[in-house]
Amino acid sequence: MTEERPLPEQVLVGRQRELTALWSRFEQTTAGRLHVTLVAGEPGIGKTRLLHEVAGRAEQVGGLVLRGGASEAEGMPPYLPFLEALGGYIRTAPLEQLRPQVDPIAPILATILPELPRHLGELTSSYPLPPEQARLRLYEAVGLFLSTIAVSRPLLLLLDDLHWADTATLDLLCHVAQHQAVSRLCILGAYRSDELASRPALERSILNLTRNRQLITLTLQPLHEADVAELITRLLGVPPDYLLSQRLWKESEGNPFFLEELLRRADHDSEPRERQSLPTRKPARQYQQPHAPALRPSASRGA
Ligand SMILES: Nc1ncnc2c1ncn2[C@@H]1O[C@H](COP(=O)(O)OP(=O)(O)OP(=O)(O)O)[C@@H](O)[C@H]1O
Ligand SMILES: [Mg+2]
Repeated sequence: MTEERPLPEQVLVGRQRELTALWSRFEQTTAGRLHVTLVAGEPGIGKTRLLHEVAGRAEQVGGLVLRGGASEAEGMPPYLPFLEALGGYIRTAPLEQLRPQVDPIAPILATILPELPRHLGELTSSYPLPPEQARLRLYEAVGLFLSTIAVSRPLLLLLDDLHWADTATLDLLCHVAQHQAVSRLCILGAYRSDELASRPALERSILNLTRNRQLITLTLQPLHEADVAELITRLLGVPPDYLLSQRLWKESEGNPFFLEELLRRADHDSEPRERQSLPTRKPARQYQQPHAPALRPSASRGA
């Protein structure tokens, strides 16, 4: 097998309309109202890339970004996106800031976030409750923790790959949205739109959030021809000739992941004339089933 050369991390191409819409959602949050926005689209269309772009901008203006994502791997714990996001915060927040933020809910949070006792030391144990009550208490504690964090800085919570989210994560998301409506918390998630029909829990949550008028969904369309040409230029370092650009746009169907793959493989052939024999884009269905994991971009999620 030949080793593939990684393509350089690129600046965002196109997507200005989507970026403006997402940014305005974040700005509305700073006024003290929780918003949920979901970015939908086919695999590789640029959902995660867009989330990262908004995150970078939010950090530049002093916002706090917490990142989490669901996983298709077996044996993952429930609430994984929240565990990643809050676990990351607990590990990095200064102790003198964290301590008052989790007081008095630390023992409840510790039931899913073992980082807390590790950082704060032994916590008083909470009374055992029937499972339903314990779950409700946990949802309230997570919501309170998030809105408390958001008091000092507007908080952007990224929840990627929600098509893989377990029901508990989605229930928690809806509960937080409903019960912390007055908070500087902007929740920005992503999911593969073609998976929605087979994910009833996600569908239900989307309906739920829509009914509460808290959700906007943004569906990413393929990149325009000019954006594809620009992306090729950035990836190759030189502008492509018109025919090659046209061909790549058509082959990739405006999907940046497939475009990168086509270029990666074409880059293998150092002879320019061999670049005419570009591989054909796999139809989206083949991308997902059964090889989707192997084709997923590896560095698509931040810590
Ligand atoms: N607008 C863009 N400009 C430049 N590069 C982009 C753009 N959109 C996506 N990319 C690149 O294309 C690749 C696929 O994008 P990304 O990982 O965001 O797709 P995705 O929709 O999250 O896919 P998946 O459903 O598999 O998670 C990444 O390498 C990303 O950096
Ligand atoms: Mg992604």
